Amino acid sequence: MSANFYESNKAVSEYLLFHYGDDETFLLNGIGPREALGFARRCGRLWEGVCDNFARALDLGCAVGGSSFELSKQFKEVIGIDFAQALIDGAIRMQEEKSATIPVAEEGEVTRDIEIALDSVARPERVGFRQGDAMNLPSELGQFDFMLMANLIDRLPNPRTCLEGIHNWIAPDGILAITSPYTWLEEFTPKALWLGGYYENGQPVRALDSLKEILQNHFALLDTRDMPFLIREHARKNQYSIAQATIWKRVN
Ligand SMILES: C[S@@+](CC[C@H](N)C(=O)[O-])C[C@H]1O[C@@H](n2cnc3c(N)ncnc32)[C@H](O)[C@@H]1O
Repeated sequence: MSANFYESNKAVSEYLLFHYGDDETFLLNGIGPREALGFARRCGRLWEGVCDNFARALDLGCAVGGSSFELSKQFKEVIGIDFAQALIDGAIRMQEEKSATIPVAEEGEVTRDIEIALDSVARPERVGFRQGDAMNLPSELGQFDFMLMANLIDRLPNPRTCLEGIHNWIAPDGILAITSPYTWLEEFTPKALWLGGYYENGQPVRALDSLKEILQNHFALLDTRDMPFLIREHARKNQYSIAQATIWKRVN
């Protein structure tokens, strides 16, 4: 995989499936880990029990927008930003057309078409999608009561720099929810800038400790949670990962 992958048709249909595919598409004959289904929806509910204000939410690295639409059930205004224009176009298509037909891999080059649809309870009129760079957010975005960074940090060229400034876009008492499986890859992040997964002076460095160190000046860590998810490869193969969610409240 490379950073360009996210601009490909393959990425758009894989993320449309990941965000909007129904459970049975992932479970062959009903078999499989149900706790890993609906990751985008679960990310879009990470505000539950921790957020007090529901005016504005930002879904940074939103891909095709599944979590943004989930957030729109609760927040009056939701902005979804992604670096890949192709994924943003996919999100806008779901917003405008409310459904799509996408190919899913069955076996080798054999695919079948499935229908996906927007949740009827979502409020697409509350959501605005735009192409943008998490490393260089415009100040006119303003501040948010809730910011989601789902599986983004290990795809950034410099996650530390991004996180060091992230409080600027979060309102006082606002919530930052980060999820990541911490899959550090040099294609996305030079090794010298990984937040974890390496040794320093013989000691292992772990991303959770780096996040605490980077965010401590502006945030209190409220909670950590395990967030399993499935990426479908073909009818008989899903990739199972467990992201770690960390929930932070802006205190300074
Ligand atoms: C692993 S995907 C996660 C997508 C989605 N949040 C989810 O959980 O399904 C990483 C996403 O981050 C986006 N991305 C990568 N670098 C970015 C950047 N600098 N700014 C904004 N989005 C970025 C990619 O285009 C991709 O959509």
